[in-house]
Amino acid sequence: MIDRPLLQVENLCTYFKLPKPHLFGKAATVFAVDDISFEISRGQTFGLVGESGCGKSTTAMSVLRLVEPTSGSVKLDNQDIGQLKADELRSFRRHMQIVFQDPYSSMNPRATACEIVEAPLKIQRVGTSKSRRAKVAHLFKMVGLRPEQRDLFPHQFSGGQRQRIAIARALASGPQFIVCDEPVSALDVAIQAQILNLLRRLQEELNLTYLFISHDMAIIQHMCDHIAVMYMGQIVETADRRSLFLNVQHPYTKALLSAIPTIDFNVKPSSKRLEGDVPSPMDPPEGCRFHTRCPMTEDVCKKEMPLLRAVKENHFVACHRA
Ligand SMILES: Nc1ncnc2c1ncn2[C@@H]1O[C@H](COP(=O)(O)OP(=O)(O)OP(=O)(O)O)[C@@H](O)[C@H]1O
Ligand code: SF4
Ligand SMILES: [Mg+2]
Repeated sequence: MIDRPLLQVENLCTYFKLPKPHLFGKAATVFAVDDISFEISRGQTFGLVGESGCGKSTTAMSVLRLVEPTSGSVKLDNQDIGQLKADELRSFRRHMQIVFQDPYSSMNPRATACEIVEAPLKIQRVGTSKSRRAKVAHLFKMVGLRPEQRDLFPHQFSGGQRQRIAIARALASGPQFIVCDEPVSALDVAIQAQILNLLRRLQEELNLTYLFISHDMAIIQHMCDHIAVMYMGQIVETADRRSLFLNVQHPYTKALLSAIPTIDFNVKPSSKRLEGDVPSPMDPPEGCRFHTRCPMTEDVCKKEMPLLRAVKENHFVACHRA
């Protein structure tokens, strides 16, 4: 068998055209994801990290084709997802699922926990009513929900338990690949650890592959084998966990890391914390998009966009001065 990555993303762009503000106004474009490429090996966790609005969720939604990418290609197990017709895509979705930050908003408040977890099986017309019930009971056990909770409604669960329902629902169709979009950001710290450990245990048991999104570097370090740091729709640094945290290169990654004072990430004390606002994604700065906030900016940064280049094996950085 060829040891090909499970997920291959090439030159993915997703732009949102906004409506004209008025008849003679100019329609603006949001460059939410702007030419990013990455791969995820089977059974691995690939982390996407960056500030709010940098394009993490849009990347995830584009990978799953929950939003239509503007260009580029996404292959899951060598199947080009962009080539699938609507009915083929519906059926293919059983291989790829998503767990959101706030499962409450994606759950029918009038459906019981059992019905919520069973829904993907019903949509895919899997098994009989009896066999689906048995499957749901098994999924409940896997994610640590009790059998007597099956007939409760979403509002009767705590945030952590609701996230367990969302994970069970994601697992129902037997996917190989799951996107976890900020799966613990809305939870208390003590509960966060339980859900993260659950995700890791399930990954081992089921050989799952994760695209794991967070704005929290400590969680990314805990969960991910390989990491990409995003800024304004682009990947500015990507490396395996060890290399990224021991040998951080990009000024933006350094700034993200220096925001976690309790952990020594080999970031020099001179590394500045992030200051200033992120520029508008409708009008990204020329040259390096980070130049308006970077403590190391020089002339070339304002004119030429730095491309990702290898600084060592499996470690790439887009910075003129790295
Ligand atoms: N449907 C849409 N139409 C227009 N603009 C959008 C749409 N969805 C996202 N955007 C914009 O695209 C950019 C990237 O948004 P995205 O939600 O992907 O960021 P994010 O990194 O997930 O942020 P957060 O950490 O807050 O979840 C933002 O500027 C956002 O306002
Ligand atoms: S290219 Fe220049 S502005 Fe951009 S991160 Fe590197 S030093 Fe900073
Ligand atoms: Mg998001």
